[in-house]
Amino acid sequence: MKILVTGANGQLGRSMRKISGEYPQHEFLFTDMPEMDITEKAGIEAFVRENGVQAIVNCAAYTAVDRAETEPKQAEKINVLGTKVLGEVAKMFSIPLIHISTDYVFCGEGCHPLKETDATAPTGVYGKTKLEGEKALESTGCDAAIIRTAWLYSEFGGNFVKTMLRLAGERDALNVVYDQVGSPTYATDLARALMTVLNNGVQGLSIYHFSNEGAISWYDFAKAIFEESGDKISVSPIESDKYPSPTKRPAYSVLSKEKIKEAGVTVPYWKDSLKECIRLLKSSK
Ligand SMILES: NC(=O)c1ccc[n+]([C@@H]2O[C@H](COP(=O)([O-])OP(=O)(O)OC[C@H]3O[C@@H](n4cnc5c(N)ncnc54)[C@H](OP(=O)(O)O)[C@@H]3O)[C@@H](O)[C@H]2O)c1
Repeated sequence: MKILVTGANGQLGRSMRKISGEYPQHEFLFTDMPEMDITEKAGIEAFVRENGVQAIVNCAAYTAVDRAETEPKQAEKINVLGTKVLGEVAKMFSIPLIHISTDYVFCGEGCHPLKETDATAPTGVYGKTKLEGEKALESTGCDAAIIRTAWLYSEFGGNFVKTMLRLAGERDALNVVYDQVGSPTYATDLARALMTVLNNGVQGLSIYHFSNEGAISWYDFAKAIFEESGDKISVSPIESDKYPSPTKRPAYSVLSKEKIKEAGVTVPYWKDSLKECIRLLKSSK
């Protein structure tokens, strides 16, 4: 299968490049801005036609959660229009689309692992645009799998793990919130999960949840990162209201992985994946 990967220079996109060799039966066509803008329908349509693309994996998105509050139009353009355009192209060529969404489509006030059927209620611009993107995709009638994920990290780009490791080199002590609970997601694991969903065949519209297994706070995550990296830094737990942010963060955003596991996807335990990521980050120094 010839697979078009959009947003291929982001965290997930680069993780897709990393694992692509595990799928010799497929040919991957990696694209990103400015050559391939997901909001430009004519360009995508031409690319799909000229290259005989047989599936699309959309790793492109507007992901600056806080900045979205002050530039909602840009967030909407990429997360809603861009997603709709990809759905329309997928429908036009009758090819499957894998799209990634987020735990931010929920309000984050729950206390049980969130299922795909649970009520959505985003509280910020980013979450609202991602939810509208899901709905826009559904309206195109294409064959698509939407995979919602959370707390994404990788060896690539900017993320919590890399920020913690950088701060360990700059400070002796750090405060990290303990009252936001979720599950980290190693982008390599997400990339493999979405390939399993794609290889299973995509018909109609399905939504799946994927993160790593386990439930922890950001404080627990930071402690585990330093345990693994061997950095000597003192970490203190604080409450979210002591760490002001323009966006309300979900207090609880553990995703239920039952449905995606039933589809044959393996869900590694968060600590095992963290170990692997830190090993790779250390070995690349
Ligand atoms: N990061 C998280 O913690 C998290 C959590 C839950 C869900 N997700 C979802 O997971 C997916 C992957 O996230 P990520 O962390 O890999 O994102 P990322 O690192 O921000 O990568 C997104 C990529 O998309 C590109 N892009 C932006 N606008 C585009 C456009 N109009 N056309 C084509 N490409 C465009 C970006 O380019 P520029 O860098 O030049 O803008 C970037 O290379 C997203 O759907 C995101 O919403 C992420």
